[in-house]
Amino acid sequence: MTQTTTSDASPTAGSGSRPSTGAPAPLLGGPGAGDGPDQPRTDVVGRPLPDFPEPPPLASHGPARIVAMCNQKGGVGKTTTTINLGAALAEYGRRVLLVDFDPQGAASVGVGVNPHDLDMSVYNLLMERDVTLDDVLQSTAIDGLDVLPANIDLSAAEVQLVGEVARESVLARALRPALDDYDVILVDCQPSLGLLTVNALTAAHGVLIPLECEFFALRGVALLVETIEKVRDRLNPELEVDGILPTMYDSRTLHSREVVARVHEAFGDTLLHTVIGRTVKFPDASVAAEPITNYAPAHAGAAAYRQLARELVARGDSA
Ligand SMILES: Nc1ncnc2c1ncn2[C@@H]1O[C@H](COP(=O)(O)OP(=O)(O)OP(=O)(O)O)[C@@H](O)[C@H]1O
Ligand SMILES: [Mg+2]
Repeated sequence: MTQTTTSDASPTAGSGSRPSTGAPAPLLGGPGAGDGPDQPRTDVVGRPLPDFPEPPPLASHGPARIVAMCNQKGGVGKTTTTINLGAALAEYGRRVLLVDFDPQGAASVGVGVNPHDLDMSVYNLLMERDVTLDDVLQSTAIDGLDVLPANIDLSAAEVQLVGEVARESVLARALRPALDDYDVILVDCQPSLGLLTVNALTAAHGVLIPLECEFFALRGVALLVETIEKVRDRLNPELEVDGILPTMYDSRTLHSREVVARVHEAFGDTLLHTVIGRTVKFPDASVAAEPITNYAPAHAGAAAYRQLARELVARGDSA
């Protein structure tokens, strides 16, 4: 079997912080990959792998596409994807706003914001009429990447919103003033399909579904898709599924490949070409409170999120 997984010992994406076009081949060890220079490259399910070009620079910014990172299963890579996709898009010159929409505050921590130390959080923006985006917004160490941070206060919103008028559209309304200033707004959802997540889906143009490559990954996806369809029917007719992103993929195991093949059978080309390999560099980067694109810019994990950014831009699912 070809060894094609992400290895921490062998970063592969060159040494620059922004390699030009070209996929990180070691993360994409599909059947045809590595068969020789004349073979077309394929993704992990054997589809031809397009060459996603580096996105052209933007002359002006906005209107933003809002993308909800959603899966009610815990620990599948929602927050990791929000942070690292956001940072990769910012590297490509996009203006990106991360919305931490989980009371655990992990996305805030991941970009260097201490959630215990906030005067104002996304909770205040949702619940208090006189609080504006600018009151809550924080810049990060990454150029072009801002965050609306959250902390445990947000857990009260789930209950308090129930009594609000148009309770499902509170986030959509709160984000409206940001649309012209950003190219992409990424909403990091909590692992539930409750009212906060419904707010994220109501605000969003697209949903990205990170899916851990393990046996029970597909359980619950039907329920998620049903929820997305309900929100589309009743609240947000424009809502699209932008893609399913396999995470924690280990090409050394038959198992990872089987999971992705099942996803492809069930969801066709909603399955993205990009696959995120399993590597300890992601938890390491979280501990350092940095995106992997900064923490280990040459690592295959950083290259994978850059490829995801390019793939989504090429599909028209990000600015
Ligand atoms: N590709 C990966 N390889 C290895 N570890 C990963 C990978 N992606 C994420 N992780 C780690 O797995 C854990 C869960 O990831 P993450 O927090 O992104 O998931 P989540 O879906 O946001 O979780 P929750 O549902 O609790 O919000 C974290 O410790 C993270 O560092
Ligand atoms: Mg999370």
